[in-house]
Amino acid sequence: MFSLERAVVCSLALLTSAVYAVKPVEVQGQDFVVADTGDRFVIVGVDYQPGGQAGYKPQEGEDALTNGTVCLRDAALLQGLGVNTIRVYNVDPTLNHDDCASIFNAVGIYMLMDVNAPFGGESLNRADPESSYHVGYLSRTFGVVEAFAPYPNTLGFFAANEVINDLGTADENPRYIRAVQRDLKNYIKNNIDRAIPVGYSAADVREVLEDTWAYLQCAIDGDEDDMSRSDFFGLNSYSWCGSDATFDTSGYDDLVEMFGSSTIPVFFSEYGCNDVQPRVFDEVQALYGRQMTSLSGGLVYEYSQEEADFGLVDIHSNGSVTLRVDFDNLQGQYNELDLSIIQSSNDTAVNLEPPECGRSLISSSQFSTDFDIPETPDDVADLISNGLDDPNRGQIVDVDETEVPMECYGTNGNVLEDLAIRPLPEDQSNTPSGEDTSGGATGTGAAPSATSSGAAVPAVGGVPQGLEYGAFMAFLMWLA
Ligand SMILES: *[C@@H]1O[C@H](CO)[C@@H](O)[C@H](O)[C@H]1NC(C)=O
Ligand SMILES: *[C@@H]1O[C@H](CO)[C@@H](O)[C@H](O)[C@H]1NC(C)=O
Ligand SMILES: *[C@@H]1O[C@H](CO)[C@@H](O)[C@H](O)[C@H]1NC(C)=O
Repeated sequence: MFSLERAVVCSLALLTSAVYAVKPVEVQGQDFVVADTGDRFVIVGVDYQPGGQAGYKPQEGEDALTNGTVCLRDAALLQGLGVNTIRVYNVDPTLNHDDCASIFNAVGIYMLMDVNAPFGGESLNRADPESSYHVGYLSRTFGVVEAFAPYPNTLGFFAANEVINDLGTADENPRYIRAVQRDLKNYIKNNIDRAIPVGYSAADVREVLEDTWAYLQCAIDGDEDDMSRSDFFGLNSYSWCGSDATFDTSGYDDLVEMFGSSTIPVFFSEYGCNDVQPRVFDEVQALYGRQMTSLSGGLVYEYSQEEADFGLVDIHSNGSVTLRVDFDNLQGQYNELDLSIIQSSNDTAVNLEPPECGRSLISSSQFSTDFDIPETPDDVADLISNGLDDPNRGQIVDVDETEVPMECYGTNGNVLEDLAIRPLPEDQSNTPSGEDTSGGATGTGAAPSATSSGAAVPAVGGVPQGLEYGAFMAFLMWLA
């Protein structure tokens, strides 16, 4: 066929590339919702930390979101996989993340950002939280807020990750987690033009799990505007292992029981047990099925193969990527989903009032019942009132390159042809594509290319929202 059609498709991608592809998401009771439309947003996500913790190299000016070419490659693969969210653990607030954030934004992928990092002074010290709660640490967390708040696809900030890991760490830490949440939320309220949610990511340690959630979601003195409350609760969940597991044997039934009446969104901030390999991800059907509508989805741990052996892809030193069988299996599971089951909000759950904090909410005698949150230090309070001095603020930039320059390979070793991102029209988030990126399982002849995935690109002739019809016609005439 005459290639005008192709030219139009490509040019549409160019024209829309500068448009804010996603609408900010906010919290409403138990749900994340898209601010403009009120539609429920359920996380279909993957944890993203290429290079593992060692990929965080601030001394060399690098973190997981500093190399635009790498992000282009990974965004193309993740878009084809069908995810709408990544979690990024360790970033340096002084570096430039504009290319990466803009690429993920263009393909309808949100980012959940940890404000902490692995070096000393970059997180709460669970052995002695008081000693680590100071202006040096907090100004770093505010820096991450400033760096990422301008991107519309920043979905939320994790104030802390797995600080409470057992009963021994459940005494002093809960108050300090709430203190950090309060400071972050006040910083955002005073200095940022939208309310970006702030929450916690919990270890799946059942002796502290329910108490941690209860402690963090309640409202002190019943004050719904209590700034130290979590806005959401992430759970790192590894209890469903292999194809023999079920909703009951995995303990998912207990989770639904525990969190069914949560007054904040609960989701898996990590999941995907690797005791049985390759992973088949049967838990995906449960997580997004009718029994678990009270949860807001989850993020599979993790994109790249690292020492811990949880990867969906292998990243080679020459910049190429090879998909692992786990990638294909996960894509197959995503393709089976009927997301309409979880996309409507439960009116009751959205309007639940947070319980008032108090002893009766906490079941373990060793878990803190002290809701007297440490005061914000004066120098921190100054930053919260006045903002950081000359912070590094990100901004969305044009995404000009769509084609992935490095070769990537399917699980069968074949090169993925025409691998590229497909920028989505305004207000779309990415969804599972129904396709099979490695091209192994279909048996229909030509391997589908990863570029034909990405669900929400309009058919040729359709005018994407946000693009004026007149401009579009003028452009067509120019082409002719
Ligand atoms: C809606 O939420 C309420 C409160 O958590 C719960 O009791 C009810 O079962 C939910 N309804 C559905 C259809 O999930
Ligand atoms: C990149 O490295 C991988 C692993 O060593 C290799 O299989 C692949 O052929 C290389 N690709 C290119 C384009 O050199
Ligand atoms: C980005 O990553 C690619 C692939 O690993 C590499 O070739 C390139 O040099 C990197 N760019 C920068 C600026 O570091």
